[in-house]
Amino acid sequence: MTVQLKVLQELPSDLDRNCLPFHVAVIMDGNGRWAKHRGLPRIMGHQRGVDTLKDLLRCCRDWGIPALTAYAFSTENWGRPLEEVEFLMTLFERVLRRELKEMMTENVKIRFVGNLSALPVSLQEEIERSMDETKNNTGTQFTVATNYGGRQEIIQACREIATLVQQGKINPEDINESLFEHHLYTSGIPHPDLLIRTSGEMRLSNFLLWQMAYAEIYVTHTLWPDFDRKHFHLALQAYQKRDRRFGKI
Ligand code: FPP
Repeated sequence: MTVQLKVLQELPSDLDRNCLPFHVAVIMDGNGRWAKHRGLPRIMGHQRGVDTLKDLLRCCRDWGIPALTAYAFSTENWGRPLEEVEFLMTLFERVLRRELKEMMTENVKIRFVGNLSALPVSLQEEIERSMDETKNNTGTQFTVATNYGGRQEIIQACREIATLVQQGKINPEDINESLFEHHLYTSGIPHPDLLIRTSGEMRLSNFLLWQMAYAEIYVTHTLWPDFDRKHFHLALQAYQKRDRRFGKI
């Protein structure tokens, strides 16, 4: 009860707590530019971006938003300079190791989605450990898309379903949205209600293509490392003004 009261008190008074998104997804764009503007190497932008993500996760908890998904590394990001890719892999691993204790204290349940088997083995182990240790937590559901591609996710779901048909376990007529979703990486996670993309780009960039069908999209020119509660507040204000019809009138 006390915890609930705290959540309600901290939500900005102009936001309607009955009309908050259940699930917010973020494309954390602009780290490189943020660093460049300061004459720093790009990796410093990613480093700073971790703090932004931590703050946003905490804000979701404080304001009563149950699910947050972050696009940390796309299947296309392997095409970046090797030094940057290696830095990101090491950063993910270091952050996971460092933050696990706090995620336990804050009751965060973390899950990774994407083709995880192609990640460095030591990172895979850290990912496994964090997902396993937090699996019974009941607070914010925090999903990290790593080596994730929406098209690849859909193709692998099709392959799994085709195999089931081939094995005679299901008939083609059994394929429906619910069965299809069951074969996505995000199975069991509700679809995002709000997608926030920083740095002004108006693209989905292969992120949660199936799941985003009815998400409200909010783009801000703010670069990811500068995105804070004030900016999140603005995104939620915009979200609450949207008329969500889901194809109906
Ligand atoms: C895009 O900005 C950002 C990324 C590809 C990496 C984002 C990753 C983090 C913030 C770290 C998250 C950490 C964990 C543990 C989940 P960009 O490099 O494309 O920026 P630019 O468009 O300005 O070049």
